[in-house]
Amino acid sequence: MITRVCQNESETTAFGKAISEILQYGDFIALDGDLGAGKTFLSQVIIKSLGVTDYVTSPSYTIVNEYGNIYHFDVYRIDDLEEMYEIGYEEYFFSDGICLVEWASMVEELLPEQHYKIKINHGESFGERIISLEGTTAQLESRLEQIK
Ligand SMILES: Nc1ncnc2c1ncn2[C@@H]1O[C@H](COP(=O)(O)OP(=O)(O)O)[C@@H](O)[C@H]1O
Ligand SMILES: [Mg+2]
Repeated sequence: MITRVCQNESETTAFGKAISEILQYGDFIALDGDLGAGKTFLSQVIIKSLGVTDYVTSPSYTIVNEYGNIYHFDVYRIDDLEEMYEIGYEEYFFSDGICLVEWASMVEELLPEQHYKIKINHGESFGERIISLEGTTAQLESRLEQIK
């Protein structure tokens, strides 16, 4: 697990870029943290750093936004896991693309066993965020050593 304290958006941007550099197609990233913590902000940085030039918006109303084989979910509005089946979540969660899911702990039982967990907490000052990144397997954890 690695933890970074980011004092402002530009520090979070730098960390997001560094994270994007170790990602591989097939990776799954579960993001959690309070409303306004920066899950969308960090996801946008990662998605853009992966080469997406489209305007990256929050998927909070659409549940999922697709950028080629990069999938960005926000499952906050999912009331029942049945809705995830209706969306056909398995096609995204178990794809060979890259999947980022905001509020992932709300659908914990559906997550692929092997994934990265990103937790964002508000720090003490206005723009401060404490961001931790953890892999659920030794293989994922070892890739974190390459993060600058
Ligand atoms: N250090 C920081 N890292 C990320 N976002 C920050 C930071 N400081 C302030 N912010 C602001 O916090 C807000 C986070 O919003 P958002 O990413 O939509 O949160 P979430 O998706 O977790 O609800 C943005 O307006 C962003 O500009
Ligand atoms: Mg969001």
